[in-house]
Amino acid sequence: MKLPVTEMNVAATRNASLEEKILKLKKDRNAIILAHNYQRGEIQDIADLVGDSLELSQKAAKTSAEVIVFCGVHFMAETAAILCPDMTVLLPDINAGCPMANMINAEQLRQKKRELPGAAVVTYVNSTAEVKAESDFCCTSANGVRVVESVDNQEVLFIPDQYLGHYIASKTGKKMTLWPGYCPTHLRILPEDIVRRRREHPRARVVVHPECRPEVIALADEATSTSGICRYAAREDVSELVVGTELGIIHRLRKENPNKKFIPISEQAICPNMKLITLEKVLWSLEEMSPVVKVPEGIRLKAKAAVDRMLAIV
Ligand code: 13P
Ligand code: SF4
Repeated sequence: MKLPVTEMNVAATRNASLEEKILKLKKDRNAIILAHNYQRGEIQDIADLVGDSLELSQKAAKTSAEVIVFCGVHFMAETAAILCPDMTVLLPDINAGCPMANMINAEQLRQKKRELPGAAVVTYVNSTAEVKAESDFCCTSANGVRVVESVDNQEVLFIPDQYLGHYIASKTGKKMTLWPGYCPTHLRILPEDIVRRRREHPRARVVVHPECRPEVIALADEATSTSGICRYAAREDVSELVVGTELGIIHRLRKENPNKKFIPISEQAICPNMKLITLEKVLWSLEEMSPVVKVPEGIRLKAKAAVDRMLAIV
């Protein structure tokens, strides 16, 4: 029987044909596809690994493939390029950046280090390679508390996310100077969103990302990285969950837990940069082997030292 031609049918047929071409070319190129938890559902579905920043960089460090197609934002592809200099790292849309990562540059960091000579610099992975190269330790939202706990210095300069820094300081009791960066997407999540969702779904737990404002974190049951949110959702005692992070993660949560209910905390929590990656762009990047993300060797070696110090702790 022939299906009626609707927009949805046309899109589904196109996606199926794109997927087929991508998977064939991926094999021919000896490539792997890494996708962040915030990617579009159709991108997550073709990926070899869907994960948080830490898992994706660990996978990049260990792979035997020759090409990584990084479905995420620029700093994530750059981290893969820092760890795997002999591989070709493709970012299917070179404009997929992270506004937070651009809230501090290397010169601003050097100036701040002169003001705080005794402080250890702990840098969120959401940062440029040049900034990582000026740092002592890198960290992600999954290991920030452990990394800061392991630092011997009395004082820590934490960049660029003031909110993740505030959360880590509250957990470790360390004296931390915070750079005033933030994630524009997580800033859109407000305390009143939690109050409303709790009223609408009284049995639901609330989990948020530590990039959220402290007032939001204070009202949640748990604050954790994106993959931490996936583990929390899988717990036996959780059947309904209000999800306080970028909406792309809901696709993975529903796929892994088909019998549970997931409620986005706010329809505003969308990262436009994460959504720039589409199936078409993934195919084109594999066809043309472009855009390539590369880090100059001098910067790469210094940035790698900060990333390696993190990977040694986790
Ligand atoms: P995760 O490391 O928790 O995946 O977070 C990355 C990110 O960009 C959050 O906005
Ligand atoms: Fe950057 Fe926020 Fe987007 Fe994450 S969600 S990539 S921190 S802008």
